[in-house]
Amino acid sequence: MAAQKNAQKHAKKTRIDVAVFPVAGRGTRFLPATKASPKEMLPIVDKPLIQYAVEEALEAGARRLVFITGSSKRAIEDHFDTDGELENLLLKQGKSDLLKTLRSVLPSYASCIYIRQPAPLGLGHAVLCAKPAVGDAPFFVHLADDLIDAETSCLKQMADRFDDGSVIAVQTVPHSQTDKYGIVKTGAKHGDLLRVETIVEKPKPDKAPSNLAVVGRYLLTPRVFDHLEKIGEGAGGEIQLTDGIARLMGDEPVYAYRFEGKRFDCGSKLGYLQANVEYALKHPELAGPFKAYVRKLAQGE
Ligand code: G1P
Repeated sequence: MAAQKNAQKHAKKTRIDVAVFPVAGRGTRFLPATKASPKEMLPIVDKPLIQYAVEEALEAGARRLVFITGSSKRAIEDHFDTDGELENLLLKQGKSDLLKTLRSVLPSYASCIYIRQPAPLGLGHAVLCAKPAVGDAPFFVHLADDLIDAETSCLKQMADRFDDGSVIAVQTVPHSQTDKYGIVKTGAKHGDLLRVETIVEKPKPDKAPSNLAVVGRYLLTPRVFDHLEKIGEGAGGEIQLTDGIARLMGDEPVYAYRFEGKRFDCGSKLGYLQANVEYALKHPELAGPFKAYVRKLAQGE
């Protein structure tokens, strides 16, 4: 019992070193914008979605960033690479603020690993592609489409609560939308966490066990790979992360966590626009003039 308690205490203190970003999807909902450039490079005001993702993972303690990429995703690698030519230009022009912005895209203590997903076989398959880079320790999975504005980053909230099993971020959604999400049914409380009893990918509203939906933040134990290797195609003919997690629940506890913060579904045009408006209203340079503009617009002037 004492040993078990110690192990739990230790688990709480373990820093989660690896964050996995599945970025191979083509973003067809944003065509033609995403024809030649990745959907994760779409900006919210002045930063691409993938940079928000990386900043969130770094705030949560991750240092190794694993991107599961596909064709037409080169811009993501370029974004996190240094650009000597541009740096020299800004230096010559004396634009030190911009130079600082450019250099802060990726701090030197972080490293990036890029792994190609050879075919679009689903989120579970994308996560499985990260296995060689993850090793035998718990890791984050972050879906950049789900942008979460929070005082403490959502992944950090999850890492702070990590104990003896995987943690999945959840939020309540309208019952009519259960077929867009992984849906969980929860049971016993465990601190701020709820034990997951059932998890199912995109059930129709009349079949859904609840309206508590999985959002794109996971803190998974490496045991999930054993299951992802064995499961076949699930919903939509894809290898689903949800199905791997459902199997994992047979071995160890899996918890749901209702995060604090506001989520924007940037995989949809409406959610993307809402995020831009709300982030602009908080932006240090834009807040004032943009608020005045929105106000005028709302008054029909
Ligand atoms: C994926 C997951 C789903 C989850 C969702 C969160 O679906 O498969 O379980 O609820 O992300 O955004 P996707 O949105 O990629 O179809």
